Amino acid sequence: MDHFSFRDGRLYCEAVALEELAGQVGTPAYVYSRATIERHVNVLKQALDGVPNHICYAVKANPSLAVLDLMRSHGVGFDAVSGGELARVMTIGADLSGVILSGVGKRDDEIERAINADLMYICAESREEVLAIDQIARRLNQKARVTIRVNPNVDAQTHPYIATGLKENKFGVPSNAALRLAAEMAEMGGVELCGLSCHIGSQITQLAPFRDAATLIAGMVRQLRGGGVPIRYLGVGGGLGIPYGAETPPGPDAYGRAVAEAVGDLDVTLVLEPGRVLVGNAGVLLSRVVRKKPTPSGEFVIVDAGMNELMRPALYGAEHQIVPVVSGTVAPASANEPVTIVGPVCESADTFARDLNDICLATGDLIAIRSAGAYGFCMSSTYNGRPRPAEVLCDGDRWQIIRDRETEKELWRGERRLAAQNGDENG
Ligand code: LLP
Repeated sequence: MDHFSFRDGRLYCEAVALEELAGQVGTPAYVYSRATIERHVNVLKQALDGVPNHICYAVKANPSLAVLDLMRSHGVGFDAVSGGELARVMTIGADLSGVILSGVGKRDDEIERAINADLMYICAESREEVLAIDQIARRLNQKARVTIRVNPNVDAQTHPYIATGLKENKFGVPSNAALRLAAEMAEMGGVELCGLSCHIGSQITQLAPFRDAATLIAGMVRQLRGGGVPIRYLGVGGGLGIPYGAETPPGPDAYGRAVAEAVGDLDVTLVLEPGRVLVGNAGVLLSRVVRKKPTPSGEFVIVDAGMNELMRPALYGAEHQIVPVVSGTVAPASANEPVTIVGPVCESADTFARDLNDICLATGDLIAIRSAGAYGFCMSSTYNGRPRPAEVLCDGDRWQIIRDRETEKELWRGERRLAAQNGDENG
């Protein structure tokens, strides 16, 4: 469910007509719906009603400050994976006691910042990292709250690039080793083991992997408690998928029930790190057709957004639904030659959709590439000398630019010309 809909053949984000918006802010542009994000937050909260829980929005999914502001205003905490993400949540004045630091390669300076900021906890990914946290905390005369990220060896049945819970993945600690590490931590002066966490992958469309992982971790919590370790948090990560096309992922209610059931009557705070499910379907990438190019092997529709703006199709073979912003341009499937929608970037991977025959586009037409609210802008680059797009947040019939379109001059910000040689001046 989202707040993008057609009215009289024109696509609206809430009450904002995207055709008019594109006229004002230009293309390509990311457009988000505030009401959709808020709805997703509320549905997830309701699904967990009655279960002690804390939602830490996975900043990486869409780290724009206005999106973080929105999450904060709903009492949502944050899952940061770098000093940079931590700086973002600090900038918006987030309550740091509801923020966690995750990530498989935290640098010492990032660990130090997390300890000084007195975060809810640091999620450790290895024994080696726990030893580093212990050492840093003792140097600072602090005791760091730490969870161990368990690698449950569960197949999340998702794209291999975003599966993280198998033993061959770089993430987490196998369950037996995690129990041994827990015992070792009791002897360390700089760390307090306050929980166990896991995160098995992203865009997961089945309940079983979540259930299996949560059941395993819950069993480990029981075992540790039996040994006298006062575990308070049980982190189940993020990963709930969204429907990009034909997928039918479980809704947040079924997901919430499944993880709560797996945890049972354990008196712990369930910590969730959702990213995509909160923001994915709340955004579109607006783009305009530059021109069409008929070839003997089919017609290309070249649009002004490319793989540098939305990398998911090129990187994961992801399929994002594409709709014309003015649906009057849709013709019956049989009337159309199949078209392949591509960007302008100099790579054949720069393809958004192949062989569509239900869409008819002309030069200058607008399209919306849907479900682009998560892992869209944040994975963009300036490859091919392309300034990054604007981001806009719609709220009812109002809209606000939440990030200016990058300028060409910003493309070389921070660069230094070659030092003058042989008396050449290069300014
Ligand atoms: N927690 C941890 C430790 C994570 O690594 C991630 C995502 C999340 C939570 C949030 O997962 P979500 O609820 O969004 O699935 N760029 C890829 C997705 C990468 C996900 C990385 N980790 C994509 O575009 O599909």
